[in-house]
Amino acid sequence: FNRHSFPKDFIWGVAASAYQVEGMTNKEGRGPSIWDAFIDQMPDRVANHGTANVTVDEYHRYKKDIDLMKELNFDSYRFSISWSRIFPEGEGRINWLGVDYYNRLIDYMLEKGITPYANLHHYDLPEALQEKYLGWLNIKTVRAYVDYADFCFKIFGDRVKNWFTFNEPRCVAALGFDNGINPPARCSKEFGNCTAGDSATEPYIAAHSLLLAHAGAVHRYRTKYQKEQQGKIGILLDFTWYEPLTDSMDDILAAQRARDFHLGWFLHPIIYGKYPDIMRDIVKERLPKFTRRERKMVKGSIDYVGINHYTSYYMFDPHLPKPNVTGYQVDWDVGYAYDRDGVPIGPRANSNWLYIVPWGINKAVTYVKEQYENPTIILSENGMDDPGNVTLAEGIHDTTRVHYYKSYLTELQKAIKDGANVIGYHAWSIMDNFEWLLGYTARFGIVYVDYNDNLKRHPKMSAHWFKNFLEREDH
Ligand code: GCO
Repeated sequence: FNRHSFPKDFIWGVAASAYQVEGMTNKEGRGPSIWDAFIDQMPDRVANHGTANVTVDEYHRYKKDIDLMKELNFDSYRFSISWSRIFPEGEGRINWLGVDYYNRLIDYMLEKGITPYANLHHYDLPEALQEKYLGWLNIKTVRAYVDYADFCFKIFGDRVKNWFTFNEPRCVAALGFDNGINPPARCSKEFGNCTAGDSATEPYIAAHSLLLAHAGAVHRYRTKYQKEQQGKIGILLDFTWYEPLTDSMDDILAAQRARDFHLGWFLHPIIYGKYPDIMRDIVKERLPKFTRRERKMVKGSIDYVGINHYTSYYMFDPHLPKPNVTGYQVDWDVGYAYDRDGVPIGPRANSNWLYIVPWGINKAVTYVKEQYENPTIILSENGMDDPGNVTLAEGIHDTTRVHYYKSYLTELQKAIKDGANVIGYHAWSIMDNFEWLLGYTARFGIVYVDYNDNLKRHPKMSAHWFKNFLEREDH
C-alpha cells in the first residue's frame, strides 16, 4: 500500500494556515486580524495563554520547511495568505512587505517543485473590517474580500494555479456567531460570555455573506484571470461524518439534518443554487434569500471542493422538547454520541472532538459524490493530535498517528476505487503549530516542534512513514 495504489496524478501534500504558523503578527506592516484582537481582549480563552505572535516562525523559516516537505516526498503545500498582512486595514492601503513575503514563499515552493495551493481566508478576517463594518454581518466586507482576492489573483496568479476562497466557513459562522467560542465571539447571552450578538440570525447572515464573498471572488477569477492564468478555484469545507446511532427513522433523520446543517449549508447552494430543504424548513424566514443574480453566481462556483475530514459521530434525536432558544439549531439541534451499546465509535485523540474512525472518511467522501453530482474533491485536511505527546521523545514516537494515516488512507482509496473523484490529499499538518483555543497543547504535526529549544523541527515517525509511502518507483 503506497502512492501507487492511488490514481496516477494524485497530488500529495501537507496543509497549514498563515495565523497558525507564520508568527510576526504585528511586524513588517501586518495589521491585526480578529484572532489578534480576540487574544488581546480575552487571553484566558487560549490554553496556557498561548499567542500566535511567534508560533513556529515560518515567516523566517519557510525555506527549511519547504525543503523538509520535499525531503518527505510531498508534491504540494496548502498554505494560506493573511489578508491583513497584505491589506492591514482590510481594504485600501497595501503593505508591500507582506506581498514580498508571499512572493518569496511561492517562488521558493516552485523552485523546489512543491505546488502551491493558496487559500485566501483561514479564520483571519482583518480586525479593521470587524470594527468598521461588523465583519461578515455587512455586505461591505464581502466587497472588500472580493477586491483582496482580485489583488491576490493579479499578483500571485501567474504562479499559483490552485486557489481556495475560504477555509471552513461553517466554523466561521457557527463558532463565531452561534456559540461565540471563536472570534468575533458574538452570540446570544445564554451561550456564554459573549458581548453582543443574536444566535438566531447572525450565523445565517454571516454564512450568507461568506457564500456571496466566495462566489464573488470566483466570478472575478473566472471573468478576469482564469483564461489567461489557467488555474482552478474552489472552497474548503469541513465535514464530520454523522452516522445514525440506531436504525430508527428518528435517528436517520437526525443524521441527515446534521449533514445538511454542516456540509449542505454551503455545498448545497454551491451545487444547486439554494439552501437544503431541511434548513429552509427549520430556519424559515431567518435564512437569508439569494436574489436571482446571486443564485446564478453561487451555483456552480467551484472547480473542485476541498473536504476537511477528521472524525465521525453517531447522531441521535434526543426527543427533548427543543429549548425555546432559536439560535441553538445551527448544527447543535441534534444530539451526538460517541458510543453505541457501550461501544465507542473509536479511540479518542487528544482533542475532545476527535475520535479515530477510519470508515468515516469513506462514507463522507462517498456521500459528497452521491449527493452533489460527483464533484472533483481534494481531501484537504486529515490528521490527529495524540495524547501524551508533549516531550520530544514521546512526540516523535507517534505510532497512533501512523496507524491513523494508514487506516484513513486505506478507506479513502476504497472510496476512490468505488468512483469518488478525489484528486489529491493534504495531511494536517506539516508540523505542530498554534492550534487556536488549544494553543500549543495540541500537536497535529507529522514533524515535532520543540518549543523549548529554538523551535527546532524533528520529523516524527509519521513523517518517515509518509516519506516511505510517497517514494516513487522511478526514484
Ligand atoms: C481548519 C482547522 C485547522 C486546525 C485543524 C486541527 O479550520 O482548517 O481548524 O486550522 O488546526 O483542523 O484541529
